[in-house]
Amino acid sequence: MRRLGPLLLKKKRTVKSAPWWKRAAPEARSFEDVVDPVIEAASAEDRARLAAIWEKRAGLELHVASGFSSLLVELLEHGSTQMVYEICSQAVRDEVHHAQISAEMAAKYRGDAPQWPEPSVNHVPTFSPTKGAMHATLFVIAKCCINETVACGVLEAARAQAKSPLAKAALSTILSDEVEHARAGWAHLASAWVTPDMRRELPPWLHRLHSVKLRELVEEDGPLPGENYAIHGMLSRRKSREVVYATLVDVMFPGYRRAGIDTTLTEEWARGAFAQELAAAV
Ligand SMILES: [Fe+2]
Ligand SMILES: [Fe+2]
Repeated sequence: MRRLGPLLLKKKRTVKSAPWWKRAAPEARSFEDVVDPVIEAASAEDRARLAAIWEKRAGLELHVASGFSSLLVELLEHGSTQMVYEICSQAVRDEVHHAQISAEMAAKYRGDAPQWPEPSVNHVPTFSPTKGAMHATLFVIAKCCINETVACGVLEAARAQAKSPLAKAALSTILSDEVEHARAGWAHLASAWVTPDMRRELPPWLHRLHSVKLRELVEEDGPLPGENYAIHGMLSRRKSREVVYATLVDVMFPGYRRAGIDTTLTEEWARGAFAQELAAAV
């Protein structure tokens, strides 16, 4: 009992696994010691731009953590499989870790200490007029089958072109978690918690969710932030569109079809939205 007091009042967490940046710098004793030659070689202006992108990502990752918290509540209320419960509860922790990684990347570009993003409001999508199990399933599709699966394709492409060892380590660490998060969606869709009636109702929803979630990528034309920093792991709009289209065709549509969900409407939308990519692929 006497040892419990000091243990509970310790300011630092007991960390059981190696920190993410060890992948880039196995010899470094702390994050401050990590030296990345590609980051060092960038101009002050470029470093400030890249820091701002990672800073923004830190906030987005924290937002995804709060989204997974809400999703987990719905799944626990309406039912899913053990594997989905495990992945979605772990995902809340993983996304907090992604926020930490992003804040540390921003700090490395700025050359100072990491700053945590501000807390932000969590909006649960309404998917009106659905309720209960159908709402939970649409939430899983939006978060895991779409967001997380698209993120896997994008992160993989970003990592492939990155030359900065630290950016590569950050993208690899995040990618390995996002693969798990995406799996939760496909596992839920394959489960008996999605009834035959629900599967019949899903096709127009699939179309709506994909067109809304990918609207910005598809409809806007300008360069993505960081478009010119390929060696720092930043993708251009053109490359992103190419990767997202390939992910839709090679991974997502077959995934929905395997779950017995008709993708005709969504595939028709994709052929129009990604007409250029379709033409290039033929
Ligand atoms: Fe994430
Ligand atoms: Fe994720």
